[in-house]
Amino acid sequence: MKNIQISPSILSADFSKLGIEIKRLEEGGADMIHVDVMDGHFVPNLTIGPPVIKALRKHCSLKFDVHLMISPVHKYIEAYADAGADIITIHPEATQNLGESIKTIKDLKKKVGVSLNPESRIELITEFLDQIDLVLIMSVNPGFGGQKFMPEVLDKIKQLKKIQQEKNLNFDIEIDGGINFENCKIAIDAGANILVSGTTVFKSNDGDIKKNIDLLKLK
Ligand code: DX5
Ligand code: ZN
Repeated sequence: MKNIQISPSILSADFSKLGIEIKRLEEGGADMIHVDVMDGHFVPNLTIGPPVIKALRKHCSLKFDVHLMISPVHKYIEAYADAGADIITIHPEATQNLGESIKTIKDLKKKVGVSLNPESRIELITEFLDQIDLVLIMSVNPGFGGQKFMPEVLDKIKQLKKIQQEKNLNFDIEIDGGINFENCKIAIDAGANILVSGTTVFKSNDGDIKKNIDLLKLK
C-alpha cells in the first residue's frame, strides 16, 4: 500500500509571492508542489511557463509535479525539464505521438506522468502504463481551481488499480480537481495515492496549510 501524498496546486496560491507560498507549502508538510501550466489553448486559462518555474526552483527542495495543460506539448518538454520540473505530466490529446513524448521525458531523466480529462478514456494510455511513473486522473475539466469534484472519474481510478494489480505495475495514481475533506477518503479508497488540491489547502481553516494537508491525509 503506497503512502498517501499531497501535491498542493499553486494555482490557488497568491501569485504575487509564489516563492513565499511554496515555502509555506513545504513547511506545512506538502509532499511535492503541483505546478499547473496552462497555455490558453489546450485549456481556456493561461498561467506560468519555464522562467517562473526556474525562478521558483531555488525556493523549495520539494519535487515539482508539473502538469502541462499545453498543446502542442512535445516541443516544450525539454524547457520544463531544464527549468527544474521533476515530474512532467502531459495529456495524450496534446501530442502527435504519446510514446515519443514519454520517451523524451524519460531520456531527460524525469518522472513521466500522463493525464486523463474526465471524458478521456483509459484506452488512450493502457499500452503505455508499463512505461510511465504516474497517471493523473482529472476530476474536473482542466483550466481553473475551485471547481466541483466529478465523482464519475472514480471508476477510472478503480479500473487503473485493477490493471496495476493484474500487470504488477507500480505507477502512482494522482487525482486532480475539487478534492476536499468530504471526498478525499473516497478518492483514496478508489485507489488514488497522490491528491492534488489547491482551494482546500490554501483556503480552508483560515489558510492553515499544515492542518489542511493533515486532514486530506486522513490524519
Ligand atoms: C485544474 C488544475 C487543478 C486545480 C486543482 O485544471 O489542474 O490542479 O488547480 O485545484 P482545486 O483543488 O482548487 O480544484
Ligand atoms: Zn493540475
